[in-house]
Amino acid sequence: MERLIAQLKTARDLPDEGLAALIESEAATAPLAAAADGVRRQVYGDAVYLRGLIELTNHCRNNCYYCGIRRDNRTLTRYRLTHAQVLACCREGYDLGYRTFVLQGGEDPYYTDERLCGLVAAIRAAYPDAAITLSMGERSKESYRALFNAGANRYLLRHETADDAHYAKLHPAELSLAHRKQCLRDLKAIGYQVGSGFMVGSPGQTTACLVQDLRFLQELDPDMIGIGPFLPQADTPFARSPKGDLTLTLRLISLLRLLFPHALLPATTALGTLDPNGRELGLQAGANVVMPNLSPVGVRALYALYDNKICTGEESAQCRGCLERRVAAAGYRVVTDVGNVKRSVT
Ligand code: 5AD
Ligand code: FES
Repeated sequence: MERLIAQLKTARDLPDEGLAALIESEAATAPLAAAADGVRRQVYGDAVYLRGLIELTNHCRNNCYYCGIRRDNRTLTRYRLTHAQVLACCREGYDLGYRTFVLQGGEDPYYTDERLCGLVAAIRAAYPDAAITLSMGERSKESYRALFNAGANRYLLRHETADDAHYAKLHPAELSLAHRKQCLRDLKAIGYQVGSGFMVGSPGQTTACLVQDLRFLQELDPDMIGIGPFLPQADTPFARSPKGDLTLTLRLISLLRLLFPHALLPATTALGTLDPNGRELGLQAGANVVMPNLSPVGVRALYALYDNKICTGEESAQCRGCLERRVAAAGYRVVTDVGNVKRSVT
């Protein structure tokens, strides 16, 4: 194991068999984290970047089998934040030191280019020094371009799985991996800083799927890579599927850090939901971003991608303070910074 990790650290790559062996080795978890933390400190020091997450809408036209806001979930109360609510979230976030706002939502047809561009332009005008990240699913290249021109500079779109057959197990036939990849290429071509990623332990996932995820990411070369464990949601077809594994997720974070030394890697909310200490462990495994929830507390539980999501109660109104303490306890430091990718260092 140590030999594989040393080889990965110097070559920044391994043959498929080596990656697969590390993915499957419980014993590799700690040494991988130590190696990843070393690389992360070389590139980013102990800095942890904040991304203020604003959950814009839980309406969605899609029907992904894993996701609690899928269109067939009739039990869910749907909401959309008003523009005034979003701007109030940004104001609060800016005052708390956030320099990146992430607008995330389902694929909600209400958000025409005109409406979404209007919102982006208003945020851009109010916060010229902040990054605006969109995470609003698949749209046309023209739409992505219009949003970029309105002031958005980053886009998060996880590929979810890079294996065609596995993609078809997680999504209805109207969604395809090929189209998802096309969207990612379009976003890059337009000039966005792009984030992709996948769920760990989603139903039907194998080690070979995970190796393919890493290979696809090498091809895409994104700036940000978000991964988190799959967590079942009661009103989905996967309600009774097992959760993703904690140490497997941590090993993958470490592998991502070693394969992509410059990448911005979040310790995700799903990881914090799987384990009370999950985000801290994610940071120690190589992650360098946290995404505190900035949404109005009243809607947070309705953005129900999976069950038992953290940060939904009144006590979490200030995730910023909570996360700052958690980051410090894990041995890192929250910074007030737009947090761009540091490619020049690598
Ligand atoms: N468990 C974990 N992550 C999920 N996501 C959606 N549903 C789930 C779930 N049940 C993730 C997807 C999506 C991101 C916004 O949330 O990877 O891209
Ligand atoms: Fe939200 Fe701790 S980060 S309550």
